Amino acid sequence: NQPMLTFHDGRRAPQLGLGTWQLTGEAVVPAIQAAVETGYRSIDTAAIYGNEAEVGRGIAQCGIPREDLFVTTKVWNDRHGHDSTKTALQESLDKLDLDYVDLYLIHWPVPREKRYLETWEALIQLRDEGRARSIGVCNFQLNHLQKLLDGTGVLPVVNQIELHPHFQQAELRAYHDDHDIRTEAWSPLGRTQALQDPVIQELAHQLQATPAQVILRWHIQMGHMVIPKSSNPERIRENFNLWSLHLNEAAMDRIASLDRADGRIGPDPDNFSLMK
Ligand code: A2P
Repeated sequence: NQPMLTFHDGRRAPQLGLGTWQLTGEAVVPAIQAAVETGYRSIDTAAIYGNEAEVGRGIAQCGIPREDLFVTTKVWNDRHGHDSTKTALQESLDKLDLDYVDLYLIHWPVPREKRYLETWEALIQLRDEGRARSIGVCNFQLNHLQKLLDGTGVLPVVNQIELHPHFQQAELRAYHDDHDIRTEAWSPLGRTQALQDPVIQELAHQLQATPAQVILRWHIQMGHMVIPKSSNPERIRENFNLWSLHLNEAAMDRIASLDRADGRIGPDPDNFSLMK
């Protein structure tokens, strides 16, 4: 009975999932096994991660019926445009050995000529065909989201963005809330930098939890979907055991105050050259 969130298309998703960026090769199947045994039912991958075949093997071997799992993948930057996006999803499905994904996301709002609108139209078709149950985006800024709305009248169910205590993106989250878009956090631990923060360490000590649990619990109470990545079964379990932890208002306020103007770790979506 982990928390679920409802999308504006009526579908539901687990709030907490397993991230798989930089999880490759031999490490993938045991990580998925440890995750599902702990209770995870959501797995996030992407074409660019190069691990979809292994993720598919993990899904096939984990003993959980397909309909009880929530699988996300993403179209990479060099596959924007109508036809190439549709082929890209089929290639991902073939690697994952699945008939559909639960969530298909545009990975970055590139290329600059704004073909992401055409890509978005392809995602709408893929959703209507049932190959992606829900559709969303990653790393979109306000202007990109607005362009989707103006161009198609359809908003993503999710925008997956860099989000952690040092980089809280308040303006974008407010737009999401106004438009019933779920905010999903990537690098929820700030690639471990936020774990070292003295306030996080102090809260962890007070609450007899780990710094990672404090941060992940903050995400949960903020209403974010969150997908911590770990290759280590013990940390995979630690990251899921959040349900008896509670941050009071004072603790939430202290974490809110950790936001930094220069807290971004990943690329800036407004200043992002096409990566292959
Ligand atoms: P590892 O795979 O060795 O567990 P983020 O999700 O913010 O990008 O951070 C991912 C990084 O955080 C990975 O390097 C992962 O390493 C590490 N990590 C994940 N969970 C924990 C945890 N509970 N405690 C410490 N480090 C963690």
